[in-house]
Amino acid sequence: MRIFTSLFVVALALVSFTTQAQSPAAPQAQLATPQVSPKAQLVSPPQVSQTPPMGWNSWNYFANKVDDKGIRAAADQLVATGMKDAGYVYVNIDDTWEGERDANGVLAPNAKFPDMKALADYVHSKGLKIGIYSSPGSKTCGGYAGSLGHEEQDAKMYAEWGFDYLKYDLCSFIPDVMEKQAPHNKAAQMRLMHTAYAKMDKALKATGRPIVYSFCQYGWDAVWEWGPSVGANLWRTTGDVTPEWDRIYAIVSQQAGLEEYAGPGHWNDPDMLEVGNGKLTLAENRTHFSLWAMLAAPLLAGNDLPNMKPEIKAILTNRDVIAIDQDPLGRQGARIYSDGEVEVWTRHLAGGALAIAVVNVGDNRYSTHPFHLNLRKLGLAETQTGKDLWTGKTLELTGNELLVMASHDVLLVRVDAPKAIPAVN
Ligand code: GLA
Repeated sequence: MRIFTSLFVVALALVSFTTQAQSPAAPQAQLATPQVSPKAQLVSPPQVSQTPPMGWNSWNYFANKVDDKGIRAAADQLVATGMKDAGYVYVNIDDTWEGERDANGVLAPNAKFPDMKALADYVHSKGLKIGIYSSPGSKTCGGYAGSLGHEEQDAKMYAEWGFDYLKYDLCSFIPDVMEKQAPHNKAAQMRLMHTAYAKMDKALKATGRPIVYSFCQYGWDAVWEWGPSVGANLWRTTGDVTPEWDRIYAIVSQQAGLEEYAGPGHWNDPDMLEVGNGKLTLAENRTHFSLWAMLAAPLLAGNDLPNMKPEIKAILTNRDVIAIDQDPLGRQGARIYSDGEVEVWTRHLAGGALAIAVVNVGDNRYSTHPFHLNLRKLGLAETQTGKDLWTGKTLELTGNELLVMASHDVLLVRVDAPKAIPAVN
């Protein structure tokens, strides 16, 4: 059975599927929006992550079972599966690689990682980049050695090993420093946190190596407001993702309103992908991936690559959806309206194009239907010609068609030449 059969469009009135775009481009007066969001303009151009980082991270599937062999296998699989060609570049080691510090404070990897430089060389030899993980505290979340008091030394070592990406996870910095140095003073605690992230930024910059700097402090103190000013290329906006629809949807809900903070070089991070993990249905995997693309989120797969099912690979390598995520304009999408259990998100794309995601977030298969897309609420005239990015078909949207969507499924459409509501004189 095709994976797309859970979502289908029933023609009630003026609906048609064609194989060609039919309508000429029309004036876009009502759609006109700033090309770059105002807050994004405040940030100076960074060296890295002009589009959201793409790659794979060890944590979501392997957790503490990550080792040298697993990282090499992931790199091999990114190449073999075509994921590298689709844009997945970073192979990121998460927590549990750390060993002990010697008398000079130099941190060695533990026995799972016999030679970090050789591993980085291997990953680079595949045309990929490699990432590492630490904490501003004395311990990582997994209880391994963090960077507290060794920031410059560690940054230098990452650069010498050849790392291209650092995820910096708050963890024990909370009890180690924030609660100790500023008990009962939240504002002072937050200032300590800013300083810690700025310190590692300085240390990374001092290495002279372009290293993507990923903040992991769960969105505390509205990190989207200050993260870019202390070097963040991306910042987690929430606590951890899990491979469950309820968690994924809760995270999605927390992203609405953050769109003005993202832009080239600095991205909101709703956490890594769970596509292919746990018991997510195909519809849920598709919706998760579609929404991460609408959110201009980093696309860091976190599944078991050597045992990836074909239908999961098809989701992760859907070039049309990846193109939404990687759109060069770098504007994050926004939730425009919801109607019952159906949500409608749009994302403005380069060249005046528009992506529209219609999501049935409800648990009952067809609970809130019939559903008609209200194009006027999107500033669009009726009729629009677009491409359904999960079926590949050309789709004509009039607002009259009944969209019948399975629970947790998505209709993701790219409209290259959206027609705005005609201006009223
Ligand atoms: C935290 C982070 C996760 C992961 C683990 C590792 O929970 O949010 O993404 O890095 O730590 O211990």
